[in-house]
Amino acid sequence: MIVTIDGPAGSGKSTTAQRAAAQLGYVYLDTGAMYRAVGLGFLRADVPATPEGADRVLPTLDVDVSYRADAMQVLLGDERVTTQIRSAEVGAVVSDISTLASVRDYMVEEQRRIGHEQAEEHGGVVLDGRDTGTVVFPEAAVKVYMVADLDERARRRQQEYEAAGEDVSFEEVRAEIQERDHQDQNRNIAPLHRAEDALVLDTTDRTIAEQVAFVVDRVKAHPAWGT
Ligand code: DC
Repeated sequence: MIVTIDGPAGSGKSTTAQRAAAQLGYVYLDTGAMYRAVGLGFLRADVPATPEGADRVLPTLDVDVSYRADAMQVLLGDERVTTQIRSAEVGAVVSDISTLASVRDYMVEEQRRIGHEQAEEHGGVVLDGRDTGTVVFPEAAVKVYMVADLDERARRRQQEYEAAGEDVSFEEVRAEIQERDHQDQNRNIAPLHRAEDALVLDTTDRTIAEQVAFVVDRVKAHPAWGT
């Protein structure tokens, strides 16, 4: 069973995908974390986010994931980079890097490989990202497209920054999200958009438990559930 959850930044994808996977006994695959690991690789190699930069650095990068007590870890080579990929520095380059064709080809191939492997082993995978239902697994059994009002998404992201001890104004966070949305929705390759067969879940006024239940119920209603 492959379940995809796509949507803009701050719509609640990762929390929902993670918890839905746990409730279903499936594995969670955070595709954004994999793009971030590539971004960290670019930063460390000190190459620009250009096709030429990608030609130089991609052959040297090996991005993979591992699972420890059900929590997904991102690996860059043998190194666990789960914490490093959340830095503001990586955040600042990852959007540009994710527009590069060779980066996306590499990511899609890896995500399909990991997705199939984990689904085989655990019965199912819940992926979240921007193109998981449109490009990575267009044949996914259940696809969800999560949305929420811009102000609500900015409020959530600001809380995350606060929890991480970073003091960023609401206006700054709102502008950052708006810019990210624009870039993700307007890039040439695999732009963020809803797959035709994806169910829309507006999380503006929903609790996390309701969002998780929405996904879990759809999966359990699928004919392939439990087979
Ligand atoms: O979800 P996130 O903020 O960790 O994602 C980081 C970046 O990676 C974001 O700018 C969009 C990009 N991304 C993508 O292009 N395709 C995906 N499937 C997941 C993330």
